[in-house]
Amino acid sequence: MTDSPAPSPHGTRGPDLQDPEVLRERALAALLTARRRTTLLTDSVDDHELTAQHSPLMSPLVWDLAHIGNQEELWLLRGVAGREAMRPEIDGLYDAFEHPRATRPSLPLLAPAEARSYASEVRGRALDVLESTPLGGPALVRSGFAFGMIAQHEQQHDETMLITHQLRSGPAALSAPEPPHATDAATLAAEVMVPGGPFTMGTSTEPWALDNERPAHRREVPRFFIDTAPVTCGAYRAFIEDGGYGERSWWAPEGWAMVREHELTAPLFWHRDAGQWLRRRFGVTEPVPEDEPVLHVSWYEADAYARWAGRRLPTEAEWEKAARHDPASGRSRRYPWGDDDPAPVHANLGQRHLRPAPAGAYPAGRSPSGAGQLIGDVWEWTSSDFLPYPGFAPFPYREYSEVFFGPEHKVLRGGSFAVDAVACRGTFRNWDLPVRRQIFSGFRTARDL
Ligand code: AVJ
Ligand code: FE
Repeated sequence: MTDSPAPSPHGTRGPDLQDPEVLRERALAALLTARRRTTLLTDSVDDHELTAQHSPLMSPLVWDLAHIGNQEELWLLRGVAGREAMRPEIDGLYDAFEHPRATRPSLPLLAPAEARSYASEVRGRALDVLESTPLGGPALVRSGFAFGMIAQHEQQHDETMLITHQLRSGPAALSAPEPPHATDAATLAAEVMVPGGPFTMGTSTEPWALDNERPAHRREVPRFFIDTAPVTCGAYRAFIEDGGYGERSWWAPEGWAMVREHELTAPLFWHRDAGQWLRRRFGVTEPVPEDEPVLHVSWYEADAYARWAGRRLPTEAEWEKAARHDPASGRSRRYPWGDDDPAPVHANLGQRHLRPAPAGAYPAGRSPSGAGQLIGDVWEWTSSDFLPYPGFAPFPYREYSEVFFGPEHKVLRGGSFAVDAVACRGTFRNWDLPVRRQIFSGFRTARDL
């Protein structure tokens, strides 16, 4: 008889994240995947569109491209390998803190051809550094962290660039196959119960987790109920048609001020035509799909909808417990379905589809509590402010997370269809201002007993 351990209920115990050679391979794959996406997003429009500002909320695409290269040069070539700056005169242009997005088009940015060759030259050298650097020793390179961080950074900008694509006018430049259907949507319970008690939030072991996800710590979370799937466009339409945008009592005071000032009546990109709700999505106008998770709502809209529905947004800890806590073992999983990396059967990630899948899709991705689509599809607003965990230490730089901690930013969880698996985990924390709606944001609701 074999003495190999019994397989876990989910078939495997996840990848070996201890072996430096496994991590080197994963870093290489993640960097190549990110660059394929960056190339597609920047090659699908002409030079005029690359340098244009499609919205004051966004940078020109050519800024993102050179910024991706510049951050890679800073962290992998100068940081890890101790090289000299390749073009010290451009660092200031691509420092996100020096120039707000709205002012970037007026900077002497690298032209598209120069930005492309700079990013690809940096990449060629970075791959040499990856091949020749022992992945032990200092924290920056241990477990390939810096390489994983840079792959995540590029994928985060790929999501940002996809937002720019969504905001640009004109015909579609991108296309992708449709996401899977929901198979058992009709019989799915509307909400699931998550048992009370402590669980482990955050991580101290995931090798490429960012500073704000660390360290792992115990949290007491009382029993609560949470929606099985994100709130759909159809459910949100009922809020609109019940006069939700005109009823002050549903809104936080700042949310009501936003609704009045901008005369909001629906999610961003929706409009009404001959009695029908339509939306614009990557250059195509189409009927709003009833079963799809609602997208492009601000925190204030999510908060108002939840109040109208007699519910509330989940806290960040509730969201993570619903996504990771395994009551059978008492431990927290990497993902809702177990410790395996995300596969296409689990979640809608990586711009594989250019829209969320209908509520009830991805049965293989559900958590032990039975909640689905926690990972992928839409970023989910939580009620929580973006704050450090107990024992937080900034790494490798204060400007990644620490300078954003505070009540002005709300936490979003779970990732959207637009972000790659490398930048999305059960522990991953995103944050934004509560007025933001151009991001791929939706939400689900919760309630106490
Ligand atoms: C974590 C998505 C809020 O886009 O501002 C990119 C990620 N940080 N470059 C952002 C990030 C530096 C960040 N978010
Ligand atoms: Fe950046």
